[in-house]
Amino acid sequence: IPVETFDLVVFGGTGDLARRKILPALFKRYCSGQMPEGSQVIGAARSELTEEQYRASVAEALREFAGDAAQDVAAVSGFCDHLHYVAVDARGESGWGDLAALLNEGSVRAFYFSVGPGVYSDLAKGLKRHGLTEANTRIVVEKPFGHDLETAQKLNQELAQYFDESQIYRIDHYLGKETVQNLMAVRFGNMLFEPLWNAQYIDHIQITVAESVGVAGRGEYYERSGAMRDMVQNHLMQLLCLIAMEPPSQFEPDAVRDEKLKVIRALDTVAPHHIVRGQYTAADGADSYREDVDNPRSKTESFIALKCQVNNWRWAGTPFYLRTGKRLSERDSEITVMFKDTPHSIFGDEAGRHRNELNIQLQPNEGITLKVTIKEPGPGGMRLVDVPLDMSFAEALGPKGQGAADAYERLIMDVIRGNQTLFMRDDEVEAAWAWTDPIIRGWEARGDVPKPYDAFSFGPDDAALMMRRDGRNWRGLGK
Ligand code: BG6
Repeated sequence: IPVETFDLVVFGGTGDLARRKILPALFKRYCSGQMPEGSQVIGAARSELTEEQYRASVAEALREFAGDAAQDVAAVSGFCDHLHYVAVDARGESGWGDLAALLNEGSVRAFYFSVGPGVYSDLAKGLKRHGLTEANTRIVVEKPFGHDLETAQKLNQELAQYFDESQIYRIDHYLGKETVQNLMAVRFGNMLFEPLWNAQYIDHIQITVAESVGVAGRGEYYERSGAMRDMVQNHLMQLLCLIAMEPPSQFEPDAVRDEKLKVIRALDTVAPHHIVRGQYTAADGADSYREDVDNPRSKTESFIALKCQVNNWRWAGTPFYLRTGKRLSERDSEITVMFKDTPHSIFGDEAGRHRNELNIQLQPNEGITLKVTIKEPGPGGMRLVDVPLDMSFAEALGPKGQGAADAYERLIMDVIRGNQTLFMRDDEVEAAWAWTDPIIRGWEARGDVPKPYDAFSFGPDDAALMMRRDGRNWRGLGK
């Protein structure tokens, strides 16, 4: 879908996120012909830099983070022709006039707040003072969106003083991932799955987002957040919503977000014995979590596994198991929808019981597989075997299925197009915090200490035990 001419201002334009994600994403869109003539990308930050210096530093960032496309010198220099830089003092007056003067009348305007949430309100105020909040303007804000319900509400209220909700794009980059969107296509574009998509046919659902990286380099932020705030409140919650929501009447921003909100509001309060928290210890040459965050007494979790329940008609009795952590044995993100046993086996005990399983693989490779049971070929009688029906995109779709746009590319273009479907609404973020807060407060009140687990392992044994107690096993990591 073509995009209109735009001016995208990146506050925090010299920062890590801008260099690693936002600018490479814009560069790739440029290479795909999605940066119309006259569009501008304007970096804004505190440092006094000349335009040449900024362009040179962005070119360097692209070479580091934008992959092969950035080896094309002409493409990098063509993209840099769209780049500008203004030094802006978020809390003061300097730079705002220069910024306003750079913007083109009639272009879509987006201001990306790639800064800490402590600065959001100053930026919003600054934009208002300089007459930059009119209807054609959008702002993009990153997580963490608040630290708890109270701070999220305050942030929402502050932004609402200057912008209409329809102008606010709260990014959760998991919603921009190709397979996450494909999940909606699979659910709502087929007759096959939806009739079975409920507690009558589904035994349980698992969501794993495992990372092998640690928290070194982001220790200060992470130590205040932990896995619950950093991953569960947002990314895993969004995945859970897309799996559990009712079909929206249309693929439209509010229709989709209304349904997701209902799921979050239907979540039960998780009992402490349905939660396993972990913290990695030094192993295989990696430092411990406590060393990484420089706090020998840290009680922050770098791993969490929990069992929760969506309390509504569709899901009563089907548990959702969520698990995420750092410094695990591998990077592996996947969702498994485990169907129930057939009610009766006509093939007898020898053939064994087999279950259908829909596996949605997000990382490192993307794809969807449906495990079905068939007869093992050969004359040896009726022996059953499970085979995967593979819906991998690369193979089925040829070149079209490869090189799918990265989450940031897709989401930034959605901002320019004015499509909020894949962004979180104020009430959604607040509902997610309202669910998270009592769990975290419980740990704090009891002084809970996370269970140690070796770096590069599967996480604490208790996470596997939690599953086994229910007669189930994790899929993927540590299966
Ligand atoms: C971020 C978290 O939101 O998501 C990080 O703050 C995490 O801690 C990252 O590493 C994971 O993103 P992805 O796309 O690499 O799975």
